[in-house]
Amino acid sequence: MPRILGIESSCDETAASVVEDGERILSSVVASQLDVHAKYGGVVPELASREHLRSIVPVVREAMAAAGLNWTDLDAVAATSGPGLAGALLVGLTYAKAICFATGLPLITVNHIEGHIHAVILEAKQRGTPVEFPALAMIVSGGHTHMFEASGSDYKLLGRTRDDAAGEAFDKVGKLLGFGYPGGPVIDRLARFGNPDAVRFTTARMKGNTLDFSFSGLKTAVLRWVEAHSMEEEIAGRKALLRENPRPTDEEWLAVTPPRTLDLVASFQGAVVDELLRHALGATSLMENARSLIVSGGVACNSGLRAAVTNRALGIPVHFPSFGLSTDNAVMIAAAAFPKFGRREFAGFDAPAEPNLSLAGMK
Ligand code: KG4
Ligand code: ZN
Repeated sequence: MPRILGIESSCDETAASVVEDGERILSSVVASQLDVHAKYGGVVPELASREHLRSIVPVVREAMAAAGLNWTDLDAVAATSGPGLAGALLVGLTYAKAICFATGLPLITVNHIEGHIHAVILEAKQRGTPVEFPALAMIVSGGHTHMFEASGSDYKLLGRTRDDAAGEAFDKVGKLLGFGYPGGPVIDRLARFGNPDAVRFTTARMKGNTLDFSFSGLKTAVLRWVEAHSMEEEIAGRKALLRENPRPTDEEWLAVTPPRTLDLVASFQGAVVDELLRHALGATSLMENARSLIVSGGVACNSGLRAAVTNRALGIPVHFPSFGLSTDNAVMIAAAAFPKFGRREFAGFDAPAEPNLSLAGMK
């Protein structure tokens, strides 16, 4: 029953977790840097590294204490080696190496995207309905929008974004409309008060038979709409609200957001969801033997996406992670390390942080 300590520090969350047998979560600690980056409207890499440095030791200590374990109770230490911000990755990876150096435990390096996939595999196992392979995996987060064919630990890239990631589109539109950072959760909450058919947005269709995504045209369309509807005053009102109160309630947002803007938000979310659903359907027809679809990454929290991408719509079982395991965490890193532990796929102390690390031979 191997116990693996997972460490995640690729972007703006410092996280540590102990997972037993690739399935039982003994602890999970996530220190979010949201408040640090929110006032800049996005993640500032230098600040992220500094915050990781500040948090890494207490976060790992807390994860070990919550699991009630000592180093000698562990079988391996796993850390994200990429993709992500170079300075941020280095903090978690170097700390993992230090633990391994001091304790003699083996080191396992994990691809962050494979981690998101394993968050779903772990929870499906816990529910007693394991993910069936070959599977399709759609990873939609602030940094990634990828569609893979997954057969166990083999991944083939079927499509990816050519410009912005889905979460990045949510964040950019959120920032543009004065909803602060990250935009995804607020847009999701407010979209249900608007009419998704009010504004007709179309997303760019790639030439040829490709499953690549594009979201920058949609973001520009929202910008044009904003420019054409003189919204400066209401946007300024929302920015003022955020300065007073970093976490407004729905009621507070609604007080400074007219119905027309709620319609815009709902239509934007609808267009992103349509695009993701279209790709999920495209992937199932391309890979006829797919036995399930995994959806993971921060945007997997989106209620519109969860309502649209269903077993019924896809014709195969669809697996979403719980909300806590959709966004970045270290459970997924420890879980992804478990099959590697079985294969004794250990890394050396020279294992580099790889900001552009790919899954399936493509960046
Ligand atoms: O997976 P994650 O924590 O970090 C990356 O690996 O990027 O994803 C964060 C992203 C952000 O862009 C955030 O706006 C988006 O996930 N997000 C959402 C929702 N919750 C988080 N997007 C849409 N709807 C949501 N409910
Ligand atoms: Zn992520």
